[in-house]
Amino acid sequence: MNVTTVTDGIFRLSANMEDILFEGLWPVPNGVAMNSYIIKGERTAIVDGVCGWDGVPETLFAQLEKIDVDPDSIDYIIINHMEPDHSGWIEDFRKIRPNFTIVTGRKSVPLLEAFFNITDDIMVVGDGDTLDLGDGRVLAFAEIPNVHWPETIATFDTKSGTLMPCDAFGSFGSVGEAMYDDELIPEQIDFYEREAIRYYSNIVAAFSVPAAKAIEKASPLPIRIIAPGHGIVWRKDPMKIVKDYIRYASYQKGPCETEVTVIWGSMYDMTRMGVRPAIEALEAEGIIVHEHKVPGDSWGDIITSVWSSTGVVLAMPTYEYKMFPPMYAILDELGKKTVRNRKAFRFGSYGWSGGAQKELDEVMARHKTGWEFLEPVEFKGKPSDADIDLIKARCRELADQVKEAVASKSDSIPPAPENRHHGRPSVTE
Ligand code: FEO
Repeated sequence: MNVTTVTDGIFRLSANMEDILFEGLWPVPNGVAMNSYIIKGERTAIVDGVCGWDGVPETLFAQLEKIDVDPDSIDYIIINHMEPDHSGWIEDFRKIRPNFTIVTGRKSVPLLEAFFNITDDIMVVGDGDTLDLGDGRVLAFAEIPNVHWPETIATFDTKSGTLMPCDAFGSFGSVGEAMYDDELIPEQIDFYEREAIRYYSNIVAAFSVPAAKAIEKASPLPIRIIAPGHGIVWRKDPMKIVKDYIRYASYQKGPCETEVTVIWGSMYDMTRMGVRPAIEALEAEGIIVHEHKVPGDSWGDIITSVWSSTGVVLAMPTYEYKMFPPMYAILDELGKKTVRNRKAFRFGSYGWSGGAQKELDEVMARHKTGWEFLEPVEFKGKPSDADIDLIKARCRELADQVKEAVASKSDSIPPAPENRHHGRPSVTE
């Protein structure tokens, strides 16, 4: 855990978490930074908690000492969001400072009791409410429900123009010595771009409509700094992450980028024989291809790739008269993540009978995905040369559809950075 200065009177307490499954589910191969903000007026407030802190009081005392904050002066704990990666530190903090007022949204109240048995000293705030810390430091609050939990609020420091929106505008990726956008080199910004898509697609995607509403709500604010609960702080170009989030939200319904995700699974390599020709055919048409194998690759990686892809190729055999089970599992999850309107193509092998297609149709219909499929290529046993040629031809057709869809994208969607697939250094090295 370390403390740094965001701007005059606002400090960031940050800890990296590595080797965890985020939400107990999502791998974070490059870690994740947990951020908390200390705001000093005549009175002091902490916005969200710094989970990842070891819970030992001396650790926090040492950090507070660096910024000349007496723990006894912390009168307010502002909880923007009740998910325990932000609120879970309260119990440890109580060991240090038993008396404080919790400032939070209306819907957090029952969860404070359910999670921590806290029922007293709660100040409920909502749209338009303010908290005056003295010394000209007035905090304003806004409800941003369902980004990504119903109770979420954002805190805005009117003195410095700092928006603290908790999960919104966050990204995965641990932070190193450089943790502000004005301290990062372009390759590091590119790294966080990919980590932001991973974060958005894995935990916010299903709430893209509320996320777009939250962006709209925040837009009129005189924002100078965006200080999220995860990832880097944006103080040189806060509008970059706002534009990125507008783009990520637009990926829900597509079209997205000139990219195709190829997801494949194979029992005895017969379906696999079509995978390389498919990828080569797509790449020859100028498509960026993300390849994922099931089982094997994580759901987190696959969802990240599909989220920015306009096209998807599914390659799997029939298994027990249905889809290859790990393919079913990831498609069901993509359906829950509300991945809509992709251009798609499927091929695969069968032995005694087909059946994969029927189950694929069922899962696509149940999730109302709106994916448009080209005619599938199915082969009994090994693919013949003619089957491979047909797979390549379908992939060329898919590439055309993808390019056409991308060309029809609305001008109101901010473009992706051109170099976002290059240079992803680990910033913690
Ligand atoms: Fe970072 Fe929804 O918690």
